[in-house]
Amino acid sequence: MTEFKSKIRTIEWVDTFSRMVDQTLFPYEFKYVDIKTGDDMFDAIKTMIVRGAPAIGIAGAHGVVLYAQELKNLQRDEFIKKLLEKADYMATSRPTAVNLMWAVEKQKEVIKNSNSDVNGIIEELKQNAIKLENEDIEINKKIGAYGAEVVPKGATILTHCNAGALATVGYGTALGVVRSAFANDPTIQVFADETRPRQQGARITTLELTMDGIPTTLITDGMCSYFMKKGMIDMVVTGADRIAANGDTANKIGTYTVAIAAKYHNIPFYIAAPLSTIDISIKSGDEIPIEERSHDEVTHINGKAICAEGVNIINPGFDVTPHELISGIITEKGILRPDYKKSIAEAFK
Ligand code: MRU
Repeated sequence: MTEFKSKIRTIEWVDTFSRMVDQTLFPYEFKYVDIKTGDDMFDAIKTMIVRGAPAIGIAGAHGVVLYAQELKNLQRDEFIKKLLEKADYMATSRPTAVNLMWAVEKQKEVIKNSNSDVNGIIEELKQNAIKLENEDIEINKKIGAYGAEVVPKGATILTHCNAGALATVGYGTALGVVRSAFANDPTIQVFADETRPRQQGARITTLELTMDGIPTTLITDGMCSYFMKKGMIDMVVTGADRIAANGDTANKIGTYTVAIAAKYHNIPFYIAAPLSTIDISIKSGDEIPIEERSHDEVTHINGKAICAEGVNIINPGFDVTPHELISGIITEKGILRPDYKKSIAEAFK
């Protein structure tokens, strides 16, 4: 299989700090920002300068290194105690994507298992963060290769939100599948849902696919069933923020609606995600915490109100697609199929 070369690197550890693309500026600017303190990393995750489940996982791992650097003058025992507290705090910067908790936990294991002095622990945390970064790209390429096998020739693939290079360290999960398929079949194309309220589909997915020369059509969220009925969508692939042990999947709000429409029109609906997005500690999607975000995201676009003042607002950031609607979960270990309780348990053996 030909390898697709994506130009995008979303986040990277550089010497003593974290460098990331500032995703709040899209589509107007493509600019890197350097994050140099743990608290700034917490804010970068919370305010979505960095976003997307795998990317915020790596950001969390970087954040632990930043806190470690700040605490370096403490005595070893005190350093460890304070750093573990800071790591737990970092993991609360966003609640739904489990990759954040997963990556912070990986850093906590380094801290707890180390026999080194303070400087040694900091170095080990740095090396572990860089390892997680590199692994993320490798995992996405594997997801891409497995996913490409189920993409029909000349397919139009619908995606929701952004599960691309910009939601990961690079390459992407759902868009990794697109990239891998496109490498061998340049006749495939993407339909990208706008993804209100924060418009990750419009602002981010169209930007990164266009940068990489992949034909893309932007549609608004309500249009998907119209195009499905017309036979213009061959498959759906989205990412995930947390997958329960039974396959129920939390992803960006609106994903559930797309999955229902796909089922009705007999169109395969796939989730593409690394195993680090699967939370085997929870039985079903009912246990996934759903982030409630600021009301301004719904009431305003680009600082301008789009509704009557004082109207009631609810703004959940994610929804949960029940496992019955999912044709397969594309992971680095292959495509998991129903019965998900069994295939997920098997993937973790
Ligand atoms: O709120 P966001 O932009 O962080 O939400 C992102 C998504 O929902 C993505 O689809 C998900 O994190 C998968 S990213 C590979």
